[in-house]
Formats: sequence, structure tokens, C-alpha cells
Amino acid sequence: MATAIAPANIAFIKYWGMRDTHATLPYNGSISMNLDACLTTTTVLFDPNLPDDEVVLAFYGQAPQTAQGRARERVVQHLDRIRALAGIPTRARVDSTNTFPADAGIASSAAGFAALTLAAVAAAGLHLDTYELSRLARRSGSGSASRSVPTGYVEWYNGDDVGSYAESIAAPDHWHLANIVAVVDTSVKKVGSAENHRLAVTSPYFQTRLDELPARLDAVREAIAQRDIARLGPLIEVDAISMHAVCMTQVPPSFYWNAATMAVMEAVRTWREQGVQAYYTMDAGANVHVICEGHQRDEVNHLLQALPIVQFTIANNVGPGARVLDSAALVTDTN
Ligand code: DP6
Repeated sequence: MATAIAPANIAFIKYWGMRDTHATLPYNGSISMNLDACLTTTTVLFDPNLPDDEVVLAFYGQAPQTAQGRARERVVQHLDRIRALAGIPTRARVDSTNTFPADAGIASSAAGFAALTLAAVAAAGLHLDTYELSRLARRSGSGSASRSVPTGYVEWYNGDDVGSYAESIAAPDHWHLANIVAVVDTSVKKVGSAENHRLAVTSPYFQTRLDELPARLDAVREAIAQRDIARLGPLIEVDAISMHAVCMTQVPPSFYWNAATMAVMEAVRTWREQGVQAYYTMDAGANVHVICEGHQRDEVNHLLQALPIVQFTIANNVGPGARVLDSAALVTDTN
């Protein structure tokens, strides 16, 4: 038995488009920061008395529920990968809890599959390093889970099955950035990322985005290394707009933004004119992630909370990656 904790992450350069759905290989590299307030804790117990896997998910503020259908299937498939690696047939009980509301539209699957990977690997008695754990988390199908494994600021490389892994490019204390999630929509998204990862290639702008990315990845890496918010911020915004433009121009088109998303983007631009160095990015949803330096975090949080279209906010600092909290097998922290 083992318990692991893992953070959600927000991408500065987005993973958008999957070139191999079996191995979960992206078309492009991506860069993110881990979120210290959006965490999933998962316990895995391999039990020879269990006839089948049991998956129980407890979302923040909700009673634990036994997972059914596709949600259960994805967990079982990932346990199968880890059982194959460990050479064991034993079924498992999985218990998972989130520190953030499930309906907040924050990609909970990255935190969920990173925590599941570390807990199941430790419970199975395997000893894998961060590189191998991030590759394994990637293969869960939620590719961004690979970025929730290493600590702080993380880059996930494009490559083949061996070369596509994530690693830390800076520790959390390298630079105190904050990400305030402005929740404007708590409904379940109509089209999942998996479907749109598949359709991205149908956009006439997809290749243009891919052509732009090597230079943008270099620039984001440099801006993080130099702790330069005035350089990083515009790059984050350009990349989010580029990803959503691809999505809006695929066949058939798909839209994640709504009027409230646009209103928050506009507010952030206005605050910037008044000297607040805040920048927006959106994942596969309507909610807006606002990035700023730590010294402006409370001010930005209050400004967002005062907007009538914002239902609530979640304020994050840069956090550590996934780690094992407690294990019956002798496995130590991988970060
Ligand atoms: C827009 O397939 O990794 O967040 O749909 O939550 O499983 P889930 O995520 P994944 O796609 C992530 C897409 C993204 C951009 C990013 O995080 O890089």
C-alpha cells in the first residue's frame, strides 16, 4: 500500500494535438508550473482478496463515490500498465481526494494520474526515478500528468516513447510566481481535450503554431531563467490565444471561451495599463488563469474577486511535484 500527492499544473506553452494516441505522444514540447493549492492525494492498496479493481473518488466537499464507466476504465488501464511492469496480477483498491472543487474546470486529471502513478508504482514495490515516472504518467492518456511529476517549473519534451518525458527546469523557490484561477464557469466541458487533441490537425493554423513553437519554447525557458515577467507574460498570452485559435478553426470548430472569459481577459489588460503586471492563460475550459509575481498576488486576487462574473478564485504559488507520502514498500521521495 502507498499514498502519493500530486499537483495540477498550468501550461505556459500548451500541449495541443496528440500525434500518437496509444503512447500519448504530443506534436510539441510544453512548459508549465505546478500549482501548490490544487492537489490530489491517492492511496493504492494491492489486495490479493479483491476480485476486481475498486476506484473511489472523493472530490472536494463531496462524499466519496465509486467511479464508473470511462473514469474507472482509465484508472484500471493505468493500473494494468503498472501491474505489467511489476509482473503482478493483484487487483487494487484506489482512494483519491482533491483539495480543489472538481467542478472548478481545473484539469484535475493531471494531478490525478500523476498521484495514481506514484502511489501504484510504490505500492507495487517498483523503484522508478522521476524521468521514468513522468513517462509512465504520460502514458495514462492525460499527457499533461507527466508535467505534474517533476518539481516547480517543468518542461515536457516532444520525442519518441523513450524521449518524451518531463523534467524540472527550475525549482519552486527559483522565482515566486502566482497563478490565480478565476472560476467563471463550473459546468462540465462539452468536448473533452482528447477529442480536440485528435482534431487539432484539421485546423489550417495548426502547422503555423507548430512552426512558431521552437522559438517560443526557447523564449519562455529564458524568461523563466531570468525571472522576467515582462517577457514571460506576453509569451504566455500569445500561446494561449494560438492554442484556442487552432481549436476554434478545427473541423468541426470547438469553443472553450465564453463572454465571461473575454471579460476577465479585458480586465487583466486594463489592470496592466494601471501597472499591475498580470497575464492570462486558459486551458481547455472557460476559466481564466492569471499569472503574476508573488508580491502582486493578493492585489490580483482581490481585483478578480471583485469582478461580478467571477464566481470564486483559487490562489496558487509554484509548488513541488508529485511525491510519495507513505509507503509500505521502501520507496523514497523522487524529487
Ligand atoms: C489545454 O490531455 O493532458 O490543458 O484532458 O485533462 O486529460 P486532460 O489533459 P491533457 O490535455 C491538456 C491540454 C491543455 C494544455 C496543457 O496542459 O498543456
